[in-house]
Amino acid sequence: MNTPVLPPFWALVPAAGVGSRMRAERPKQYLELGGKCILEHTLGCFLDHPQLRGIVVSLAVDDPFWPTLACANDPRVLRADGGRERADSVLNGLLRLTELGADEQDWVLVHDAARPNLAQSDLDLLLAELADDPVGGLLAVPARDTLKRAGADGRVRETVDRSVIWQAYTPQMFRLGMLHRALAEALVSDVSITDEASAIEWAGQSPRLIEGRADNLKVTRPEDLHYLERLWRGRH
Ligand code: CTP
Ligand code: MG
Repeated sequence: MNTPVLPPFWALVPAAGVGSRMRAERPKQYLELGGKCILEHTLGCFLDHPQLRGIVVSLAVDDPFWPTLACANDPRVLRADGGRERADSVLNGLLRLTELGADEQDWVLVHDAARPNLAQSDLDLLLAELADDPVGGLLAVPARDTLKRAGADGRVRETVDRSVIWQAYTPQMFRLGMLHRALAEALVSDVSITDEASAIEWAGQSPRLIEGRADNLKVTRPEDLHYLERLWRGRH
């Protein structure tokens, strides 16, 4: 089989959250995991890639931790200001990419700072599958458990058909111009935008779901970090 030609791409990593559900003494992207902080691992997933054009990281304006990281001095890593919600941080990052000379048609991969366990094979799969796609798409994982719809009384109303339910992961891969317009218009219209795909959907397009690995999890609660610590200890 021929190895597919992977397209060049930009990475955009929103990292301006406070990590309230983690209840740690610092934002979760700066917690240590196997000798480096989570954000350094996350950026490392992209920095190793031969088709990377550059990375924009959206950071809280008063972030005291970023300047202490070695990758802050990497010329391929540029910063943008974070915003109030994740979507605002992403929009600022897209504007920064345009300032840097990125083209409307360039692919942008938006990836949560708090997902340090993205496999190179998943990144390549996403790039290969979507290289010629007119819309773009995202890594996602099919629902595994039986799903229930609850009523206000905390009792099951019904069992939901699991086969059509997917969990949206990142990276999410879209063309810079299309994503920028969709996000900006969704934000002024005050619709709730929790990921890039939802902005594209709101603009009337259907992003493609690319099945990825379930262990590309987002560190949200302390047990997620403990899980990755155990997983990585087993690997190294
Ligand atoms: N994020 C961001 N700007 C915000 C909010 C979130 O850049 N205003 C980023 C986070 O840093 C994270 C990603 O978006 O990398 C996913 O968000 P989430 O997991 O919700 O992180 P936090 O908002 O930091 O955590 P919490 O919701 O528990 O406070
Ligand atoms: Mg959040």
